[in-house]
Amino acid sequence: MEDKKGAFESRLGFIMAAIGSAVGLGNIWRFSYIAYENGGGAFLIPYFVVLLTVGIPMLILEIGFGLRQRGSAALSFARLDRKWEWLGWWAPIISFLLMTYYTVIIGWTLNYVGYSFFQSWGNDPETFFFNNHLGLTSGVWEIGNIQINILITVFLVWAANFIIIYKGVQDGVEKASKIFMPLLFILMAIITLRGLTLPGAMAGINKYLTPDFSRLTDSKVWLAAFGQIFFTLSLGFGVMITYASYLPKKSDVVNNAFITGLGNCGFSFMVGMGVFGVLGYMAHQTGVPVDEVITQSIGLAFVAFPKAISMLPAFQTLFSLIFFLALFIAGLSSSISLVEAVVANLMDKFNIERNKAVILVCGIGFLGSVIYTTGAGLYFLDIIDHFNMQFGAALVGVVECLVIAWIFKASRLREWMNPISDFSIGKWWDVLVQYFIPLTLGFSVIKSAIDEFIK
Ligand code: PHE
Ligand code: NA
Repeated sequence: MEDKKGAFESRLGFIMAAIGSAVGLGNIWRFSYIAYENGGGAFLIPYFVVLLTVGIPMLILEIGFGLRQRGSAALSFARLDRKWEWLGWWAPIISFLLMTYYTVIIGWTLNYVGYSFFQSWGNDPETFFFNNHLGLTSGVWEIGNIQINILITVFLVWAANFIIIYKGVQDGVEKASKIFMPLLFILMAIITLRGLTLPGAMAGINKYLTPDFSRLTDSKVWLAAFGQIFFTLSLGFGVMITYASYLPKKSDVVNNAFITGLGNCGFSFMVGMGVFGVLGYMAHQTGVPVDEVITQSIGLAFVAFPKAISMLPAFQTLFSLIFFLALFIAGLSSSISLVEAVVANLMDKFNIERNKAVILVCGIGFLGSVIYTTGAGLYFLDIIDHFNMQFGAALVGVVECLVIAWIFKASRLREWMNPISDFSIGKWWDVLVQYFIPLTLGFSVIKSAIDEFIK
């Protein structure tokens, strides 16, 4: 049943697409780095607590709301009450912002797929990375202030997004996700197994899994867990609302939300083992303590990893190809969810054809990306990402949760979802979305605003 906007052909298709959105660059470089920075093993406790008390309940809320209202974010809220339509527009706006730089990082991964063949980073991947991304090199690759090699791959990333979204929900998003997700899993499983079996891996894994309980009382660690769960589950962007609106009318919500949430975080956990195994190996080879192997977030994927790969005993080219290809696929399947969410809002609101909306979004999106391919790109990226996440997605999350739980009414949504779901949720869910989530999330937004502007 393909209506004007399209629909997923099967439940598996929806799950693959939802996991495709969730599993992204955030699961590989962001997760490992944040876990490391916030006490290694200690971070996993807040991470899983927030997953169960906030992440999965919010997934149920977004998927349930999208399925019930059958529209993109703006339409879903407008159908609730015209006066909430603006809230629905907030989501595609921050999605659009995220899209402009997320695609640039995917572009870098594509550059690194190319570099993998020649191990171009040599024995100083750090200098190599910054030369390539801060416009420090001059010559053929730079015109004006724009890094041409990055511009080209970013263009390719947008072209891939364009082609997939242009084909629509079933032939584009669903088909692509059904190919990408199993492939991604296999590629990352290979990297993880390799990482785990390297000499010294255990030292890295110990860093990863040994809890530092003293960090549990630090509110920063909890804030980091909140931020990571929102980002990693694509919450607060209207993406899950949009995807759910393409489900057949009587679809299971609760089970789909659990599979998506647990699948995404299980994947991150697995990748973390591999990444820390590799870092342990590096420490083992160089004599530098594990703590000093990682220095910065972006550096993890594009500096520390290439360094480690160059130290592998064999098949260096193969492993770097696998790693960067996996990053690329993870990123692309997330970016299509952002593009689709924005496109869907435009189609719903202005009643325009899919092809027009796609041309518009990809065209303007690509132009927006160009700013990050300049020498100052990395600088902008840091600032915009910080504000977009801290005050964009988190704020949408709080308000959306409040509006759905109190105005639409949590109990009404729950009573509607339960009969069509494989298993039912109880009143505990109402309590979480009416009180617990808005309070804790609201507190986290206020706390980070205070840290930001007052201290
Ligand atoms: N969940 C994706 C990741 O972990 C990022 C993302 C956020 C994608 C919001 C879509 C919407 O990388
Ligand atoms: Na994720």
